[in-house]
Amino acid sequence: MAPTASTPSDLAETQAAIAAALERVEERFDHQLRSDLPPVSRLVNHIEHYRGKMLRPTLALVCGLAAPSSLRPSVSPFLSLDHITVAAVCEMIHMATLVHDDVLDEADTRRRGATINRLAGNEAAVILGDYLIASAYHLCSQLDSQKIALLVGHISMTLCAGELLQLSHRNDLSLDEPTYFEIVERKTASLIGLACRLGAQCSGADEATCARFDRFGARLGVAFQIQDDLLDLTGQQSTLGKPAGKDMEKGKLTLPMIHHLAAIMPGDRARSLLLLERACGIRIHRAGVPALPHKDTPGDAAAALRQALDGSGSIAHAIRTAERLVGEACSELTPIPESGAKSLLMMMAEAVVKRAF
Ligand code: FPP
Ligand code: MG
Repeated sequence: MAPTASTPSDLAETQAAIAAALERVEERFDHQLRSDLPPVSRLVNHIEHYRGKMLRPTLALVCGLAAPSSLRPSVSPFLSLDHITVAAVCEMIHMATLVHDDVLDEADTRRRGATINRLAGNEAAVILGDYLIASAYHLCSQLDSQKIALLVGHISMTLCAGELLQLSHRNDLSLDEPTYFEIVERKTASLIGLACRLGAQCSGADEATCARFDRFGARLGVAFQIQDDLLDLTGQQSTLGKPAGKDMEKGKLTLPMIHHLAAIMPGDRARSLLLLERACGIRIHRAGVPALPHKDTPGDAAAALRQALDGSGSIAHAIRTAERLVGEACSELTPIPESGAKSLLMMMAEAVVKRAF
């Protein structure tokens, strides 16, 4: 396939090449979803408006530029139409998961705009999510490599399994760290790993190198979700573009809370459990443990819990864990030749745990 950009050697050139390629990804994305039916177009337009950080397509493209080709080691990688296609496929699958996730979370706002479920109801949101996932497979089938379609199908199943595992632990106040990581590795990290792998694969990298990029993305993906969960506890709606505190409201325990409940003394634990039950809107009767005063609202309970999480060092534990994972992700790239694209990947990895939205 013919190169679409000359091979960028330094950081600024790489950033310019990625910006140009992302425009092509957006065009491919928009073109693929186009419909002659106004009710479909309206919803698709809305999706295009709430396009976010484009993390997955950007990673696919930057990994594509960073990965050495096993077939032509002397030729520096360039971005082909296949890179643009896999980047669009990853973003489309991500969008499908968000549209469905907002139905599950009964979320009203995402990226400063109304969610599809708020705008058009749950039925339309479910079908629009299906339209997105079907479009992603349609786009995928335009690639020569059947292996990519297999991987995309496999990871889509993994995402759903992760979400189902999370659902089965809703309001489970004894959720442990291994199960939390199992959920996060599947529902978030698997697709980020895939985006990195596919970028490398489209550059002709060998399997060992593709697997290295996959591990880089998967480690980064877990760190990304931990940061997302931290922001849900500590962030502000004005910065996040979506309401904070949704996880607790929906009975989803995340790393800081799991650490807190495991680290504190039994007396404090009983109080935190009561607060958590109030924040989640559930009540599990425990003999000898008095209920909270009724004047405490779920919001009061959530605020008291946030203070308790700080006090037990659980916020700091989650931050340290995310930073450690970013370090592990970056170590995966050690054998990859130095380039502007590799530097950009390192910068993106650091930004994942520094972001405020
Ligand atoms: C956001 O997490 C959601 C995910 C990372 C995955 C959701 C996956 C599904 C709903 C399965 C459907 C899959 C397909 C292939 C259509 P979050 O709720 O922690 O983040 P948020 O704060 O951005 O909502
Ligand atoms: Mg959600």
